[in-house]
Amino acid sequence: MDLFKAIIERRSTRNFNSKKVSEKDLNFILEAGAYAPSSGDLKDFRFLVVDEPKKIAKIADIANQHWLNKVGLLIVVCSDSDLATSFYNKRGEDYAKYNAAAAIQNMLLAAHALNIRSCWVGDFDKKGLRLLLKIPQEAQCHAIIPLGYSDEKLEDPKEIDLEVNVFYGKYGFRYKKLNLILREYAKELEERLEKMNFKNDFGTFKTKLKKAFSKK
Ligand SMILES: Cc1cc2nc3c(=O)[nH]c(=O)nc-3n(C[C@H](O)[C@H](O)[C@H](O)COP(=O)(O)O)c2cc1C
Repeated sequence: MDLFKAIIERRSTRNFNSKKVSEKDLNFILEAGAYAPSSGDLKDFRFLVVDEPKKIAKIADIANQHWLNKVGLLIVVCSDSDLATSFYNKRGEDYAKYNAAAAIQNMLLAAHALNIRSCWVGDFDKKGLRLLLKIPQEAQCHAIIPLGYSDEKLEDPKEIDLEVNVFYGKYGFRYKKLNLILREYAKELEERLEKMNFKNDFGTFKTKLKKAFSKK
């Protein structure tokens, strides 16, 4: 599948049928996770595969997300946090999270490319999960990634408004007007001068012009 198609089409699924994910596909997804970038190439993410129904049921309880009961397989994404902090001190705590997040997104996209549904689950009791899966103190647990198939139709791709997310040059600065990008200032100038009640007063033209553009 084309990468961009996967990025656009991928959606969270919380309704799974009983079809199982093959070991081959699971390994492909795990590998996609391990290919993620990581600070200092530490690859400090740790993927814990859980397929025992009893454990999955307990995880659904721990997360208080009972739809997880329907899934036959999940990956708990952890990181060996000691590794990142030993290289980067306090900053390593953040890096461990970023590294795990990059791996998670790789896995979600790889799953989607294989027609496997998933959902990033981040809301769960970390202590409970630590106890259940014997996750040691030096490891942090970031997400649960259920994997399976669904009869549910994928929701339509979302509408994205880049104007909300993108600034140019400085924070908060949106080139809303194409004429500005194209360096066509005449329209902008006209609007601004109009707003300023500019009259054809050549004595102050330069000052007003300067003022009009310094407001940006
Ligand atoms: C950090 C993070 C935590 C999330 N935690 C949960 C969760 O605990 N339960 C859940 O059902 N979805 C969870 N989601 C999934 C989001 O709700 C979902 O990605 C969002 O609504 C956008 O929908 P989409 O994934 O279909 O694009 C989480 C997503 C992220 C990135």
